Amino acid sequence: MQKRIGVLTSGGDAPGMNAAVRAVTRAAIKKGFEVIGIRRGYNGLLNNDMIKLTARDVSDIIQRGGTEIFTARCLEFKEWEYVLKAKDICVQNNMAGIVVIGGDGSFRGAADLSKAGIPCVGLPGTIDNDIQCSEYTIGYDTAMNTVMELVDKLRDTSHSHERCAVVEVMGRRAGHIALNTGIACGATAILVPEMPYDIEDVIKRIKEARANGKEQFIVVVAEGVGGTEEIAKRINEETGIESRATILGHVQRGGSPTVRDRVVASEMGYYAVELLEKGIGNRVVGMKDGKVYDVDIQEALSMKKPFDERLYKIASDISF
Ligand code: ADP
Ligand code: F6P
Repeated sequence: MQKRIGVLTSGGDAPGMNAAVRAVTRAAIKKGFEVIGIRRGYNGLLNNDMIKLTARDVSDIIQRGGTEIFTARCLEFKEWEYVLKAKDICVQNNMAGIVVIGGDGSFRGAADLSKAGIPCVGLPGTIDNDIQCSEYTIGYDTAMNTVMELVDKLRDTSHSHERCAVVEVMGRRAGHIALNTGIACGATAILVPEMPYDIEDVIKRIKEARANGKEQFIVVVAEGVGGTEEIAKRINEETGIESRATILGHVQRGGSPTVRDRVVASEMGYYAVELLEKGIGNRVVGMKDGKVYDVDIQEALSMKKPFDERLYKIASDISF
């Protein structure tokens, strides 16, 4: 039987995952492998829910958001007995290795499966950009551009009504989307889980800016901070400026990937296949100093991603 490379997407989806699947498929075919799309994340491995991917099967998907091979959260895979079951299925399917596109949890599964004897390589795919070992994650740029477009629309109506728009953006544990879109949209305040904030200070800034003639305001709140409705209510009560809370939600996870996401996904997908071709597993492909590199999964999981405090200060200093 021809040697095979599997590819799966796991955890929350992200625009650009399809571009990564396409790159993995085409790179692996070029190197003489057969390619298997494992559907619904690790569930597909456990249930033998897989499809052969030809070069044509991945045509016309580079521009699509979401993931054509579906994604899922598979809790069983945290247990070793299921990892061993997956390993047996991989052996039966003649898998030389698997590319896992997802976040930290997905990489833990990839490390376990590598330990069980199936080389796995992780690609960072999440809109949150919260993967420690990589400066950049597939989906981040698209999500931020989506947020920017939506907040620009909110700005129009906030301007007309001279209101304050309090906008919650995704980022359960990280404020990277909030910080960057906050700057891009001229937010008066940006609240992120990484930095403490004082609501009284936010209110003071809004009052001072209003006294200085500012008509409308944007406050960006990362999901991990929470309390968006309450924050809007408090601003309304204490400043007298009509405030509205908007939770952008899952719209941020969809949409056609930007150039950056398509290119990074293609580069990382290709790199992952190069590793598997050499029989190298238990690695995560990431971005460091603007270049694609690879790192041991355990090391990747133990790294700490810094929050850009200088950018946070800049945002604060230029928004009044
Ligand atoms: P998200 O943050 O969107 O949930 P992750 O990439 O962190 O995305 O994916 C989490 C998923 O990874 C889990 O639901 C599970 O299917 C899979 N997974 C596999 N093995 C593990 C593990 N050992 N620990 C955590 N998650 C795992
Ligand atoms: O993919 C990461 C993320 O977008 C987080 O920011 C968010 O909290 C989470 O996914 C929500 O995912 P779901 O609703 O699919 O559980």
